[in-house]
Amino acid sequence: MAKQFDVLIVGGGVIGCSIAYQLSKRGKKVLVMEKNRLASKASKAAAGMLGVHTELTGGSPLYRLAQNSRNLYPALAQELKEVTGMDIEYVENGMIKLARTEEEAQNLVTVASQTEQDEQVEWLSPLKLSAFEPHLSKQVAGGLFIPRDGNVAAPKLTEALGLASVRLGADVKEYTDVYDFIVEGSRITGVQTSIGSYSASEIIVAGGAWSQSLLGKIGLTLHSFPVKGECFSVKCPRELVERTIFTEGCYIVPKVGGRLLIGATEHANTFDESISVSGMMSLMKKATEILPDLIHTDWEKAWSGIRPQTHGGLPMIGRSERWEGLSIATGHYRNGILLAPITGVMMADLLEGKENPLLHSYVGSSRKWN
Ligand code: FAD
Ligand code: GLY
Repeated sequence: MAKQFDVLIVGGGVIGCSIAYQLSKRGKKVLVMEKNRLASKASKAAAGMLGVHTELTGGSPLYRLAQNSRNLYPALAQELKEVTGMDIEYVENGMIKLARTEEEAQNLVTVASQTEQDEQVEWLSPLKLSAFEPHLSKQVAGGLFIPRDGNVAAPKLTEALGLASVRLGADVKEYTDVYDFIVEGSRITGVQTSIGSYSASEIIVAGGAWSQSLLGKIGLTLHSFPVKGECFSVKCPRELVERTIFTEGCYIVPKVGGRLLIGATEHANTFDESISVSGMMSLMKKATEILPDLIHTDWEKAWSGIRPQTHGGLPMIGRSERWEGLSIATGHYRNGILLAPITGVMMADLLEGKENPLLHSYVGSSRKWN
């Protein structure tokens, strides 16, 4: 076998790269193996929203993880800049979750009143909303403003995490397909790949929506499924929205350089990454209902990605109970960019045997994966 590593990570998406970065910072010798290029799948497609309140609620086991993870971003962006020179385009410009109906407005007013004091949120009446974002349609019933939320450039984040890991001593092998495991008794000791066999003390599968097909080789069932999402972007000569606007079935994210990113569709149980006319039409309809002036912008491009979802609706983060030396970190579905920093920290703590109350409470509440 070629070389001994402390940790071998399968998958060079944001989750694999975030774990690689945290472990490399702690002096571990890490190898990342990626079938394509770093940041080529879901982590390339993502809108990069860091929204604690838009897709999660206070009752979700992910809520604390999401809040902690988002709060790691200012320091992480700075660190990555120092180590790699790369700008991940992190902005803390806030998000607004729109209410389209009076009923949605009532629900969001309740959310605002129940949100704990450590998290700032503000209910915006239609009048106040229109002062915040004057180009939004007047046919909305208000919105929940979350000032600490923001967004990043997801592909740049993933690449920067990968590059920072390399600068700290990790190896990254792109265009390398991991197709099986090496098993010794009850332990996984390495992997077989398109460029040969590699061993490591610990193996982590962070293969996104493709994790199941690899883990099936050693009899593990993840209860996961792929969910395709399509997006498009436009170029705006003038600023139409200052903050991310989120509503059921559609969001509009202002990006650095005067772009607006509009997402995203949901098609379950497909790995087909093609972009459908119907998907684009439905997104355009929803987006122009919220922001009518969008029609005056210039088309940039469209793309899609495959989100890793689980039947339990929660990411699978932890050690295998069946195989020693094997861990998994996947199933982050719509929130992998938001959750990447905390997932990296939790996995590094887990492998170092360090107590992490967040991971402890999360693993306790999430569904077992084997
Ligand atoms: P991926 O990025 O898919 O990476 C997995 C990698 O593993 C892939 O590169 C794959 O090639 C590799 N791999 C798999 N199997 C093997 C193998 N056998 N050998 C070698 N390599 C292998 N999240 C947010 O937080 N905010 C957002 O705004 C947001 N917007 C999104 C918008 C869209 C349209 C989509 C599709 C997703 C969005 N997400 C968002 C979700 C987020 O993108 C995902 O949760 C996250 O990228 C998952 O990261 P990952 O590393 O698990 O998977
Ligand atoms: N979180 C946005 C998406 O997955 O589309």
